[in-house]
Amino acid sequence: MVLSEKAKYHVDLEHRYGAHNYHPLEVVLSRGQGAYVWDVDGKRYFDFLSAYSAVNQGHCHPKIVTALKEQAEKICLTSRAFYNDCLGEYEEFMHHYFGYDKMLPMNSGAEAVETALKLARRWGYRVKGIPEGKAVIIVCDGNFHGRTISIVSMSSDPDSYTDYGPYTPGFVRIPYNDIPALEKALQEHKDHVAAFMAEPIQGEAGVFVPDDGYIGRAAELCRQYNALFVADEVQTGIARTGRMLCCDH
Ligand SMILES: Cc1ncc(COP(=O)(O)O)c(C=O)c1O
Repeated sequence: MVLSEKAKYHVDLEHRYGAHNYHPLEVVLSRGQGAYVWDVDGKRYFDFLSAYSAVNQGHCHPKIVTALKEQAEKICLTSRAFYNDCLGEYEEFMHHYFGYDKMLPMNSGAEAVETALKLARRWGYRVKGIPEGKAVIIVCDGNFHGRTISIVSMSSDPDSYTDYGPYTPGFVRIPYNDIPALEKALQEHKDHVAAFMAEPIQGEAGVFVPDDGYIGRAAELCRQYNALFVADEVQTGIARTGRMLCCDH
C-alpha cells in the first residue's frame, strides 16, 4: 500500500517510539461517525471491525458523547474509597439488564477473567473446602481469555504463551465441545475443582460454535460436581449472538 506523506508521518512515529507488540494495517484513522471512519487523507471506510467489537455502538453517538462530557465536567474520579451517586444506579441497571444477582465492573476482558479465576479459587477454598493450594480450574484447548501471565498459562496457542514462563499452575486443559472429556476431568480432580471456564463460542480459535446443548450440559455437570461454571462472554455477550448473553441460548 502506498502511504501519503501525512499517513507515513504517523506510521513512522509509531514504529520509532512505540513498542512493537502489534502489526496494524497501514491505515491511519483520525475520525469516526456512526459506522464510518475516515483516514488522515479524508478517505471514508465502513468500520466493519468496530475495535474488535469494543465499539459496536458506533463512533461518537451524540447521546454517549453528551453523557461523557457531562460526567467529565462534574467529577473526575471518586475511587472505591467512597460511595458515589452513579455506581449503585449502574449496578442496579446491570442487574435488571442481565438478570444476575451482582456485578463487578472491569476495565478489560483480561482483568475480568483474572477476577473470575480469583473468585473461583477463593470460593473453592472457603465454600467448597478445597485444601489450600490445590484448586484446579478446567479450561479448553483453543481458548483465548486474554494476555496476562495466568491467562496465557491456560493457553494452547504457542503465539500466546511461548517465552512467558514460568507459568501459573492449577489449570487442566481439555478439548472444547467435548462433554465426556469434561466429565472425566471433573471425576479425576473432583474435590479440587473450583471451576470450569469456557467461551460459549470460541472467538479467537476461529469462531467455533459448539454443538447445541454443550454449554447447558457443561453447566449441569458443574452443578453435579459442585464446581463453578464460568462463561467468558467477552466476545459473545451483549446481544452479539441474538440473545443478551450467548449462554441465554
Ligand atoms: C473471549 C475473550 N476473552 C477475553 C479477552 C481479553 O479481552 P481484553 O483484550 O479486553 O483484555 C478477549 C479478547 O479478545 C476475548 O476474545
